[in-house]
This record gives sequence, C-alpha cells and structure tokens, in this order.
Amino acid sequence: MDQHRSHGSSGCNQRSSYKRGGDDGGRNRSDKRFRTIHHQSGSDPVQNPPTSQGLSTRRELYERDFPVYKQPVEVGCFSLDSGRRFFNDSRQMRYYVEPDRNPNFDLRDGYTDRFTKRDDSVKEKLDHILRWIVVNRSKLNSRSTTTSSCGLDVDFVTWRGHLTKLLTTPYETREGWSLAVTRFRDTLYISEVETEAARRERENRTERHEEMMYWGYKFEQYICADSLHSSPDPGGVVNTNEAFCTVVQTRLSDHRLLFSGEVDCRDKDSSASAPPASYVELKTSAEICTPKQRSNFHRFKLLKWWAQSFLPGVPRIVAGFRDHEGTVVSVETFHVSKISHLIKNEYNCWKPTVCMNFCSDFLSFVKCVAVEDNPSVVYLFCWEPRRDVTYTIHRDSHYSFLPHWFVQEMTNSQDSHHQP
Ligand code: A3P
Ligand code: MG
Repeated sequence: MDQHRSHGSSGCNQRSSYKRGGDDGGRNRSDKRFRTIHHQSGSDPVQNPPTSQGLSTRRELYERDFPVYKQPVEVGCFSLDSGRRFFNDSRQMRYYVEPDRNPNFDLRDGYTDRFTKRDDSVKEKLDHILRWIVVNRSKLNSRSTTTSSCGLDVDFVTWRGHLTKLLTTPYETREGWSLAVTRFRDTLYISEVETEAARRERENRTERHEEMMYWGYKFEQYICADSLHSSPDPGGVVNTNEAFCTVVQTRLSDHRLLFSGEVDCRDKDSSASAPPASYVELKTSAEICTPKQRSNFHRFKLLKWWAQSFLPGVPRIVAGFRDHEGTVVSVETFHVSKISHLIKNEYNCWKPTVCMNFCSDFLSFVKCVAVEDNPSVVYLFCWEPRRDVTYTIHRDSHYSFLPHWFVQEMTNSQDSHHQP
C-alpha cells in the first residue's frame, strides 16, 4: 500500500515543487509549463473535467540544469526472427565489421529481389516487451517483499523509440504524436498510437521513399556479421522482421524506467566493454556538400541520432553518407558523448538539457494524470507541433493495449515466484 500511495502521488508532488520553484528561472517557468486548458469533447472519450492541465512544449521552459539520468543498465535482451517470433535470447545479435572510409556500398542492390519487408501495418504495441517481462519477472521485482510485490519495481515501461520522440518534441515542427498510457499495478505502460497523419503518410509513400527506407537496412547488411568469426554477406536477403533488442533499466529524475530498443550490432572485440557500451548504432544520411547541408545535419539529424542512442547508453554511431543514387561515399564515426560539442556553434540549436527536462516533466505529468490503476483504462496523450500536450480518457475502448495474457500472468503470479 505504501508503495502504491507514494507512486500515485509522486508526479503531482513534483509538480507542486515546480510551482514553488527550485531555482530562480524555475519559479516563473513552473507556472507556465502546466497550463489550464479546455479539452475538446470527442464522441468516444470520457471527458476530462471542463478545465484541466496541459503541458507546454516551449523550449525555454526546459532550459535548466541537466536532470539526473542514471547510466542505463542492460537487464536482458530478446530477439525477433525472420517471422517476427519472440526469443528470450540474443540469437539475432550481429557483429560490427569496420568498413572502408570510402566503401562505395551500393544501397540499391537487392531491393527488388532480396528484400523481405516487415508489415508495418501490424501494430505490435508493447507485446514483445511484455513477453520479455513475463519471462523475466524475477529480475525486476526482487526488492519487493510487501503486498505490492505483485508490481514491477519500475514506474514506466515503454519502447526506446517512444522516449526518443519525447526527447525531440520541443524541437519538432512537423510530426505530432499520440501516446496511450495505462496504469497497471502501479507501473505506467506507454504505447504509441499511430496518428491519422502518420497513417496517411505510411499508406501513400512514394516508390522512391519506399526504396530509400530500404537503404538504411542495406547499409547494416554491408557492415554486420552474423557471428564473431564470420564476415558480412551483402549477397543475402535483407529481412526487416529480424531484430535484436536490448532491455535497459535506468532512472530519469525520480522516474524509474524500463525500456527496450533495437540494437544494430556490437563490437566484435571480446575485450570491449559490456553492453550497452559495446553496442554500435548504424545510420545513413545524404552526403554533405554545402555549409547549409552541414548546418541542417547538425540541427535536425544529429538531434534524432543523439536522442536515440543516448537513451540506452549506446556510445557510438557509425554513419554512411550516400549520394542520390544510393552509393555510400564516406563513413564517419560519431561519439554520442561528443555530439553536443559538435553542434555548439550552430545558431539557435537544440540542447540536450531541454530534451531531457521535457521528457522528465512529461513523465511527471503522466504520473499526475493517469491515476486510475486499471488495465482497460487508457489515458491518451496527444501532441501537435506548436500546441500543448493534452489528454483524453478512454475506458474499454479500442485504445486498450495491455493484452489479457499479460494481465492474467501478472495477476496469477503475484505472490508466487512463478516462472512461465
Ligand atoms: P537509417 O536511419 O540509417 O537511414 P535505425 O537506424 O533506427 O536502426 O533504423 C534502421 C533503418 O530503418 C533506417 O536507417 C531507415 O532505413 C529505416 N527507418 C527507420 N525508421 C524510419 C522512419 N521513421 N522513416 C523511414 N525509414 C525509417
Ligand atoms: Mg540504425
């Protein structure tokens, strides 16, 4: 019970501490961040009270000291095979093989005849992570001995990609997002809901766009070997169902996080540091020929690259720069810890502290709003560029995303040390 009480209120307590103001700048900002807004009434959602709180995404409100972000610790991993089947192991791990600095990789090769594309109209929600949790529960709640032992010892469970979107929100001008949140046994589960705009874009991609999405995966194939002692096989099939995912635990301010993210490959050197320090993120980008292109790369692309890798503690990004025909003309390594220095000379550029403080405040906002502990209740948080974050509440709706098998498994095994 104690744990229940303190979890339910911690976000709100934090919010009132913003109102008191921890520092000079914070005093004024705190009132502005949580705004009284009027929610639009929808046909389906249960309406919020006529006035309730929204969250501002204005950058200047988040320019304070960098929040505590504990070094992420890998607590497990899983693999998805060519048919998207789950395995509680690292069978899909790949190994980094350093390419030439000017490799001339042809990224178009195999697009028409050696490509199996994942069906991205299938929404897997949090299912793979939930599967991992069910199989690995003993790793997560070892500290609890009270009646609340049925819960996990984390405040939030989500995908790394959802957190990446939160980190970049104060700088995003094009794409909004919708995040469904359910509180279950005092853990908040966050699962993305595809926006209408994103669905339209997915269903209307040009052939050129479809092909360019393949290029990133093809680059991975040129660089990754399937085992420690093999070489990359550019003649093989690119199958984007296959994935190796790390599961990490960390803390952002007072939010205990458990999230998973796909990892492209790891260092081959067995004496290299343990994961996630041995992991390598692979990226492609258009080659940079003008100062304007360099500036755009720093301002927009490096923000997304940084956010994605910083979250799970992946230290290195290996980037392939390609021409318009899809040939990789150069390869460069970016050290994640140095990216913020690289961008410092850009005018009006993004700041890591704004990203992390916004994410932290959003999670506090979620803790405050999503108070009913019920697996079929969804708090839907929505954001569009130049607007505040708002939310609606949905009971037993098509937004509910915790599967019955998960709820049942977590309920059945609450006081036993049941291992599925
Ligand atoms: P690049 O980002 O190197 O072009 P990730 O780098 O996150 O592991 O993703 C691997 C590849 O998936 C990307 O490689 C890109 O080809 C494709 N991809 C991922 N997210 C995408 C998105 N939102 N839009 C288009 N392509 C995407
Ligand atoms: Mg990648």
